[in-house]
Amino acid sequence: MSERKWRPLFLSYLLRQRALVISIGALIGLATLLFVSTLLLTSPPVLAQDGNQLFLPIISGGGAAPTPGPTPGAPPVANDEYVVLGWNDLGMHCYNRDFQNLAVLPPYNNLWAQVIKRGDPPQIITDTLNVSYSFPDNTYSMGKSNFWEFDQQLFGVDLPDNVGLTGKGLAGEMDAGGNHFVAEGIPLTEFSDSNPNQPEPYQLADVVVTDASGKKLASSTVVAPVSTEMHCDNCHYDGGVEGIRTGSVETNILRLHDKENADDYPSGHTGNLMGRRPVLCAECHASNALGAPGVAGLPNLSRAIHKKHAGKVQNTTEGCYNCHPGPTTKCLRDVMSAEFNMGCTDCHGDMEKVAKNPSPWLNEPRCDACHKEPQYAQNNPLFRLSTGHGGVYCEGCHDSTHAIAPSSQGRDAIKFIELQGHGGPIDACTVCHVTAPAGGSPHDAP
Ligand code: HEC
Ligand code: HEC
Ligand code: HEC
Ligand code: HEC
Ligand code: HEC
Ligand code: HEC
Ligand code: HEC
Repeated sequence: MSERKWRPLFLSYLLRQRALVISIGALIGLATLLFVSTLLLTSPPVLAQDGNQLFLPIISGGGAAPTPGPTPGAPPVANDEYVVLGWNDLGMHCYNRDFQNLAVLPPYNNLWAQVIKRGDPPQIITDTLNVSYSFPDNTYSMGKSNFWEFDQQLFGVDLPDNVGLTGKGLAGEMDAGGNHFVAEGIPLTEFSDSNPNQPEPYQLADVVVTDASGKKLASSTVVAPVSTEMHCDNCHYDGGVEGIRTGSVETNILRLHDKENADDYPSGHTGNLMGRRPVLCAECHASNALGAPGVAGLPNLSRAIHKKHAGKVQNTTEGCYNCHPGPTTKCLRDVMSAEFNMGCTDCHGDMEKVAKNPSPWLNEPRCDACHKEPQYAQNNPLFRLSTGHGGVYCEGCHDSTHAIAPSSQGRDAIKFIELQGHGGPIDACTVCHVTAPAGGSPHDAP
């Protein structure tokens, strides 16, 4: 019993850490399935799954009186009173395909939004309005993931069906906080309702702004990236590493872990992992992604896993894709990879370097380490928490880490096209300003 004592504690910690600590990342899910679909990667930019063009009629007008015919070159929102910028804060969220043996990360996506009242000057609004989110083609998770069968054993809470660790479901209200709205911990899976057997890692959310009377003022179609693609099976298959053969990749890993470390399991956490499944790795190895403190003296999970596998995978994007999603998903889809051939190690360094991160998830590469001109300086150590021009989040204009626009994944462009008629970053001043101020770039102005 004592070994489970930390869990409620950890959970309340987890529930307290709103925006930051639980931000879960570009990764995880001990996927045992090899995903063979390349369908989504080849679908054209602005087509919905049903082939309908998504961007034409999307922004429904706000309160301003409609003016006849758009000005040539004016953005689609030129007659709207409000616009909403929406984004997922991390590059990609990864969760386990199957929770019966072990868990690295639960289903847990975050959506952020900023509502801007168009004007001269524009105003960022957080009171008086409501922002809601939903996934029109992803309305339930039960049956798409077995997380809810193991939530009690893994996280010490028995969650209602389709509800995640912070109480959010697949549709609901976003919470106002400071200068933005956020829905944290959405238990999203990679399986659409219309095709529940085919992973679709670029799920589409509808983010909708309404006023107190319920009138719709603005909306945005935002990608929530989510994947279980993780190829531990490249090596930990039956008969693979150390010849272990237990019938599944997850149990092969647990058997190997017991073989190597069982003598060192700390008090309160003893007993073979194989004998007490499902196992949460963060029970012993600290993970800032979960706000889990781990056991003092043991390496954090990032350090343990990257150090142990250094030299066993190539120090290239392909090497990282052994565990991060992945050769099929291609979570790294930003302009720097697409147009300038940059890969994971250009920004993060090699496996040894990642293993030495003193504060995983909270200490990450910075844009301004390379883009040294003063106008690109971050005002927070983390890109995802930094704001620039007029208090707008960097991610609001550029999109999230690993998706820095223009991204090679067509769905990422939909929201930008809805706002300005072309892909990102947001460069059309009149998306927010009613009258275009002088200046060629938002970085030329404060
Ligand atoms: C490229 C091959 C490869 C991939 C991919 C891989 N591993 Fe390993 N892993 C190894 C090898 C080889 C060892 C054994 C190292 C040794 O014997 O020192 C190992 C060891 C381990 C260990 C035991 C560590 C210990 O205590 O000694 C764990 C746990 C582990 N891997 C987990 C994982 C997980 C989880 C994944 C997927 C996220 C994964 N591995 C992906 C090759 C791989
Ligand atoms: C009961 C506590 C416990 C749990 C749960 C646990 N580990 Fe470990 N792990 C340890 C201990 C103890 C070591 C040895 C640490 C050392 O040698 O410094 C270790 C070592 C490792 C190593 C090798 C680190 C190295 O540098 O040699 C990896 C990789 C690893 N664990 C991965 C995992 C993964 C993945 C999970 C979840 C499937 C997991 N662990 C769950 C206790 C645990
Ligand atoms: C053997 C599997 C494996 C490989 C290979 C791997 N990772 Fe990871 N990575 C993980 C796991 C598991 C986590 C989650 C750790 C946690 O939850 O704290 C992670 C987390 C991370 C994080 C976030 C935590 C942190 O340390 O800031 C970064 C960044 C990262 N990996 C970068 C890389 C890069 C870059 C490569 C390739 C050079 C790579 N990883 C290769 C398994 C792997
Ligand atoms: C490791 C260094 C490095 C880091 C970190 C980095 N960049 Fe870059 N970035 C580059 C290089 C090199 C280019 C290629 C063009 C150039 O030299 O400006 C580039 C290009 C770009 C471009 C495209 C410019 C164009 O000409 O189309 C954008 C936008 C961009 N980066 C934004 C960012 C943002 C936002 C971040 C932080 C999330 C970031 N970069 C982090 C090195 C980096
Ligand atoms: C152009 C630079 C760049 C490249 C290339 C890059 N990353 Fe990142 N990565 C970042 C930045 C910047 C952050 C931190 C963003 C922040 O501070 O919010 C980050 C964060 C992460 C995180 C933590 C979760 C998150 O999204 O914040 C993981 C995991 C990660 N990267 C893995 C990878 C892997 C794996 C690859 C290759 C497939 C990769 N990165 C390629 C710049 C890069
Ligand atoms: C209001 C929208 C907006 C905001 C907010 C914004 N940017 Fe930009 N950013 C742009 C546009 C448009 C460009 C392309 C024009 C240019 O280069 O100035 C750009 C260019 C860049 C580049 C140039 C890449 C290159 O080499 O040409 C970097 C780096 C960058 N932004 C980083 C950031 C960072 C970091 C933040 C937050 C601190 C941020 N931006 C906030 C719109 C924005
Ligand atoms: C995503 C929304 C957005 C976009 C796009 C945008 N701005 Fe702004 N801008 C703002 C906000 C918000 C403020 C802050 C207004 C305030 O001071 O309260 C602001 C303020 C300014 C200011 C100073 C205050 C004023 O109105 O004179 C200037 C100048 C400016 N922007 C120029 C530009 C230019 C030039 C562009 C296009 C290249 C641009 N902006 C694009 C949101 C935006």
